[in-house]
Amino acid sequence: MARILITGSADGLGQLAAKSLADQGHQVVLHARNSERGRYAKQKVPGAEHVISGDLSDIDETKSVAEKANALCRFDAVIHNAGVYRAPPNEIFMVNIIAPYILTFLITKPQRLIYLSSNLHLHGRANLENFKMESSHISYSDSKLYVTMLCMAVARQWSDVYSNAVDPGWVPTRMGGRGAPDDLQKGYETQTWLAVSNDSGATVSGHYFHHRTERRYNSQASDVLLQEKFLSLCAEITGIPFPQ
Ligand SMILES: NC(=O)c1ccc[n+]([C@@H]2O[C@H](COP(=O)([O-])OP(=O)(O)OC[C@H]3O[C@@H](n4cnc5c(N)ncnc54)[C@H](OP(=O)(O)O)[C@@H]3O)[C@@H](O)[C@H]2O)c1
Repeated sequence: MARILITGSADGLGQLAAKSLADQGHQVVLHARNSERGRYAKQKVPGAEHVISGDLSDIDETKSVAEKANALCRFDAVIHNAGVYRAPPNEIFMVNIIAPYILTFLITKPQRLIYLSSNLHLHGRANLENFKMESSHISYSDSKLYVTMLCMAVARQWSDVYSNAVDPGWVPTRMGGRGAPDDLQKGYETQTWLAVSNDSGATVSGHYFHHRTERRYNSQASDVLLQEKFLSLCAEITGIPFPQ
């Protein structure tokens, strides 16, 4: 059985992925923005082992999430699920890009990393001149392009890790809204499959999936020069260099 940490698992796809993995007998650690949301998460997923709390829109709190995770155990998989859509650009920047960067490099390296991207990343632009916390230019689509870039950079540099990205579809969570047309169950099954399955399709790295099928992703995400610039800007902002 695997040990899996899922960020943003108080609600939505994170909570559903956590439930599914706990029901399969895996050891799941939840994460929520604060202790109140943490208690809520644990009520919703009673089979989970622990809850870690910390607000991912804050650099220091995000670093403390990594410390708490490392104090618990070494994880087999981390699902970088937490995300915001209708939020100010600086919050999108922090939660969708900087938090996954910090957690990727401060949490003891697991065997598998899964990043929640979005179909909308295809419309994103890697405009690194404006890559700043106070930037008002980062859109949701840009943020999902950058987290896909992070995933592909990790896949390129860490040959001992399976690092993959997932487009869950447009699904009826709080973020997706009630009218979202895609299948909610299919919206979390790819992440759970990538986290624990030994299928040949799941034990790969540097891929972008939709409903367990590999899909084409924005080529900017695998552009090595863009990746290097992106990683060095993240290192400057967070004080955490990319560990080789
Ligand atoms: N739903 C869709 O149609 C769709 C489509 C494409 C991609 N995605 C991606 O899939 C992932 C999950 O989305 P979802 O639909 O499940 O969204 P959701 O229902 O809004 O859930 C998002 C989760 O992230 C947590 N979160 C947000 N900001 C946080 C912060 N500052 N600190 C800690 N936790 C924070 C939320 O906590 P609270 O509950 O406390 O706010 C919640 O648990 C996201 O990365 C999203 O971008 C979703």
